[in-house]
Amino acid sequence: MESIPVDQPVRAAAELLGRARRVVVFTGAGMSAESGVPTFRDALTGLWQRYDAQALATPEAFRADPALVWGWYEWRRHAVRLARPNPGHRAVAAIQARVPGTVLITQNVDDLHERAGSPDPLHLHGSLFAPRCSACAHPAPMQDEPADGRRVSPPECARCAAPVRPGVVWFGEALPGAALEAAVEAASSCDLLVTVGTSGLVYPAAEIPQVAARLGAAVIQVNPEQTPLDPIAEVNLRGPAATVLPALVDAAWGDPAG
Ligand code: APR
Repeated sequence: MESIPVDQPVRAAAELLGRARRVVVFTGAGMSAESGVPTFRDALTGLWQRYDAQALATPEAFRADPALVWGWYEWRRHAVRLARPNPGHRAVAAIQARVPGTVLITQNVDDLHERAGSPDPLHLHGSLFAPRCSACAHPAPMQDEPADGRRVSPPECARCAAPVRPGVVWFGEALPGAALEAAVEAASSCDLLVTVGTSGLVYPAAEIPQVAARLGAAVIQVNPEQTPLDPIAEVNLRGPAATVLPALVDAAWGDPAG
């Protein structure tokens, strides 16, 4: 799609948002980029610079080198603890406050939506804050704040002594059934879906906006780059989430914070 000035599409999107009754907001790594949380496609630094994030986020990588993978996730958890929600996260919470029943679906494993005031997002890819046993799935307590950039042997499960693993969904693993089911249900029954900061490449999550569009919902996309979701979006807002989302809320209701 050709590039168009942002204010005219923002007005068109605000009109859709202002009259929507059942809204879904669907977010990806770009949502947290301006909070300083690196996306999976950013180059890694320090100890991990010779690794590819997508190669570390697999069950095979954890089995082959648990201390490397656990250390990497502890470092990511540390980075998220230091990060703050950005105005885009707050604008999403404002949409939820304005349109009761709005369902927030996120692929992010951080907790920035919650900290911005969004109650109970559906975490399709799990959470950095829910470690569990790699064998028996017993929940494990979080340990002390990790030091930056080092290998850390995972703790042992208190019940069966197998290594504890991060509570995230790795490549090749199934998504949490209840969250996926609730997400598909919300996407199937909404009249507007706002997709923010996702490349739309990772399935099955990328199905969510497709399901909404197929069943007749309008789709608004917020992303500075083109994505495979461009063709299904009625309005493409080509800009960063922390700027575009407050502008959208402002245009819909006359107040960037809702
Ligand atoms: N505002 C909005 N979008 C942005 C911003 C920003 N400030 N910065 C980057 N983006 C966009 C990029 O253009 C890209 O399309 O965010 C998208 C990030 O894409 P990915 O890194 O692929 O993130 P995501 O779509 O969430 O990936 C899905 O794959 O890596 C795995 O499990 C991981 O949940 C993740 C999943």
